Amino acid sequence: MTDSITIALSKGRILDETLPLLAEAGIELVDDIKKSRKLVFPTTDPNVRVLIIRATDVPTYVQYGGADLGVTGKDVLMEHGGEGLYEPLDLKISQCRLMTAGPKGSQPPSGRIKVATKFVNIARRYYAAQGRQADIIKLYGAMELAPILGLADEIVDIVDTGNTLRANGLEARELIEHISSRLVVNRASMKMKHGRINPIIERMAAAVASRH
Ligand code: ADP
Ligand code: PRP
Ligand code: MG
Repeated sequence: MTDSITIALSKGRILDETLPLLAEAGIELVDDIKKSRKLVFPTTDPNVRVLIIRATDVPTYVQYGGADLGVTGKDVLMEHGGEGLYEPLDLKISQCRLMTAGPKGSQPPSGRIKVATKFVNIARRYYAAQGRQADIIKLYGAMELAPILGLADEIVDIVDTGNTLRANGLEARELIEHISSRLVVNRASMKMKHGRINPIIERMAAAVASRH
C-alpha cells in the first residue's frame, strides 16, 4: 500500500529522545517496547509502523526501501556514505562530537600513524584530507583501550562529556565533526509518498523548533 509508512528507529540512547518528537508528530507506539521482543511495532496511526534496529543498520534499511524514514546519528550517516538518502531534518538530539584522541600529554607520531576506530571510512577520509599516512584498525567498541595496549597511536571516537577518555588516560586532539541525530528519507519514497511523508517531516521540524 503506497499510503503506509515504515519508520526505522535506532535502539539505544537515540530512541528515548526520538519517541517524544514522534509523539509530537502524532505518532505514538502502542506496545511497551521495553518489554517486547518484537522488532516491528504498530503505532497510533494505523498507516504507520516502526522498526527498532541498530543505529548502524538504519541507513541500509532506508536506502533499500525497507523503511521509508529513519532516525540515526550523523556519525553513522557519514560512515555509511548516505547513498540513496535524503537528510531533510536535524533533530538536534544525542548531540556529541566525533574526535581524534590519544594518550594524555603525548604527541602523534610525525610519520605513519596507527588509528583504531569503528569509523573506518570517516577516519580514512579524515587523515587522507590532511595528507597524513594512516593505518586504520577496525574495532567494534571500547576503542579507548587500543592506545593503552599499544594497538594504535590514536583513536577516532564519539566524545560527549570526555569522561570515558579521561578515565582511560586519553585526551581529545582534533574535532572531526559535530554530531546529532538526523531524520533520513528513502529517495523513492520521498517522491511516491510525499503526501504522507511531508506532514511527518513538518510536524517533527516544528517539534524540534519548539525546543530550541
Ligand atoms: P551504539 O551501540 O551504536 O554505540 P548508541 O546508542 O551508544 O549505540 O549510540 C547511538 C548514536 O548516539 C551514535 O551513533 C551517536 O550519534 C550518538 N552517541 C553515541 N555516544 C554518545 C554519547 N556519549 N553522548 C551523546 N550521543 C552519543
Ligand atoms: C559512547 C562513545 C564513548 C562515550 C563518550 O560510548 O563510544 O565511549 O560514549 O561519552 P563521554 O565523553 O560522555 O564519556 P557508549 O556509552 O555508547 O558505549 P558503547 O561502547 O556501548 O557504544
Ligand atoms: Mg554507544
